[in-house]
Amino acid sequence: MNQDVIHPITTEVLQRLAHTPDSRMRELMTGLVRHLHAFACETRLTDAEWLEAIQFLTAVGQKCSDQRQEFILLSDVLGLSMVVTDMNHPTAEGCTESTVFGPFHVEGAPRFKAGDDIALGASGEPCWVQGRVLGQDGEAIPHASVDVWQADAEGFYDVQRADLQHLQARGVLETDAQGRFSFRSIVPEAYPVPTDGPVGGLLAATKRHPWRPAHLHFMISAPGYRKLITHVFRRGGEYLDSDVVFGVRDSLIGDWVHQAPGNAPDGSRFETPWWLLEFDFVLNVER
Ligand SMILES: [Fe+2]
Repeated sequence: MNQDVIHPITTEVLQRLAHTPDSRMRELMTGLVRHLHAFACETRLTDAEWLEAIQFLTAVGQKCSDQRQEFILLSDVLGLSMVVTDMNHPTAEGCTESTVFGPFHVEGAPRFKAGDDIALGASGEPCWVQGRVLGQDGEAIPHASVDVWQADAEGFYDVQRADLQHLQARGVLETDAQGRFSFRSIVPEAYPVPTDGPVGGLLAATKRHPWRPAHLHFMISAPGYRKLITHVFRRGGEYLDSDVVFGVRDSLIGDWVHQAPGNAPDGSRFETPWWLLEFDFVLNVER
């Protein structure tokens, strides 16, 4: 069949969907069926390939648990998550770009004061992170919630370590009257997404590496402003041009600057070499 010709079954399915009471659901289902059928026709999907796809999706579902979301991972590595993020969070002039949320955020992470060490024993080279949360006109945003989470030196998040009894390398801070925040932590390292499931098999079959470049996750919110979900990526790190989930934006690459032992910006001491990251975030006003 010519791929430009709509299959008669497609027409029939769309007719049956035409009475869906919820108009948005009708729109979504119509689009899904149209594209799904067109995909099958265009690629001349075989019986065996159809079955393999069903088995693959079944395996993706079976790999999911309270601690593991293989479907989000699938969406991420297919670039779908980033397309949806991009489309729904267009960056207003001068504002910080958004990127994927990822699967490792924990609700209710410990709260910290400015300058506290959020690593809580996580492995890695020490660093100091500071910046400001600003509005589009450069106004400081006080009392903004700055939720941060990251992987350790071995590329693992605390929630991936079954033997760990407490949270590490994550926390929630609040900006001061000048919109400033600061904390101690460890330098993030690149890490591979989990490859022991069907999505790992898909990456291998398509000769793709599973790595994400080193980054800090941030979720920043303040009354009157749109919530910002983003990362700061480490300049000079590996995989910046081939992030497995397509999350890198040039404007989100920050400089971790190496420092000799000495005083941190707040006057406290670093007895060993450390790294300084300074990064400001600009929030879009809520409309
Ligand atoms: Fe991450």
